[in-house]
Amino acid sequence: MTDVAGTDVPTAGADSLEALMGRTNSDADAVIHTVRDNADVIFTWSYDKGERASLSKLYEKAKGSQWNGTTDLPWETEVDQESFARSLAQMDAQTREARGTDLSGTVFAKWGTREWEAQAFELQNWTLSQFLHGEQGALACSAKIVETVPWIDAKYYASTQVMDEARHVEVFARYLDEKMSGHYPVNVHLRELLDDILSDSRWDMTYLGMQIMVEGLALASFGMAHAVTPCPLLRQLLRYVMSDEARHVAFGVLSLAEYYQQLTEAELLERQEFAFEAAVRMRDRFMAQEMWERLGVPPGDAARIFAATPEQKNKDPFQQLLFSKIVPNCKKLGLLDANDGWLRKRFDTLGVSQFEDWADTSTDYEVLDEVSKDRSAASAD
Ligand SMILES: [Fe+2]
Ligand SMILES: [Fe+2]
Repeated sequence: MTDVAGTDVPTAGADSLEALMGRTNSDADAVIHTVRDNADVIFTWSYDKGERASLSKLYEKAKGSQWNGTTDLPWETEVDQESFARSLAQMDAQTREARGTDLSGTVFAKWGTREWEAQAFELQNWTLSQFLHGEQGALACSAKIVETVPWIDAKYYASTQVMDEARHVEVFARYLDEKMSGHYPVNVHLRELLDDILSDSRWDMTYLGMQIMVEGLALASFGMAHAVTPCPLLRQLLRYVMSDEARHVAFGVLSLAEYYQQLTEAELLERQEFAFEAAVRMRDRFMAQEMWERLGVPPGDAARIFAATPEQKNKDPFQQLLFSKIVPNCKKLGLLDANDGWLRKRFDTLGVSQFEDWADTSTDYEVLDEVSKDRSAASAD
């Protein structure tokens, strides 16, 4: 990790990239994974509901916007995974061409349309599987927050998030089982990030790691998946999941904005470092290692050939959009500016600071409430 004055950025360099990508989940057959959560359970005897009005309002909203993953989604939809794989493969070919990726002398030199379509097909399975595992991480984090947060309004709200996340795990697992063609184990780097978030003993770090960083990125990536998928079932599933996720990110912003006002600059620096390291890990390490392994390609080789350079990533609008929620939310929490703008300078190196004045997520959960919108539309019919 860097110090305040340091200029080095912990982005994987060319050598370490191959080493990082060469690591895949080696206990993929294990059914159970255990993490020590190092936390005290905090009781509060102050039951004043509404003491924190914004959290109480969020809790009331959450109670009214619950949906049922079994009955509220069109599970009868027929999904043509192959046809979507064909269009994904075409988009990937255009990206390789635009980047001038040289495949001569590599295993990919012999690949034709069939192989690239097979890869795009597997990438769908891999991506949906990582959404599923990330959702289970969120389930565990929100349950931990119920125990560790000292405020009753936050315990009430977090308990609704536990139900939301259970529903998300349920619907992604069902989509994979019924509409895709195979589960993947959790990506080793995603699992390590979730483990690090869950094992930190400080209650606010669960929020910072999950609600601000992982769910901020998830909200942006679900939005992109929603924009490109032709599947009406997945679109509806993602619309509803995103409505819930907007509340979860708001929960993080509203809770931490209060708590971070009391922290010293030194304590804030620890939060800035934690946020930046999570950002770099999410951007640079989630590279479908397990998919390459299943396709018989050494993941380190694939990473070396296809990984975008930091310069390409900094200019890639999709990479940047992944941070469009995280950066304004960090600003709202005071994390961009503390310690002479330590985090802003680091986000500058990722090319994402321009999002700082985009809407933060403390209120847009109301705009994003697709469940209520559908109910109003249905009752008006
Ligand atoms: Fe979720
Ligand atoms: Fe969530």
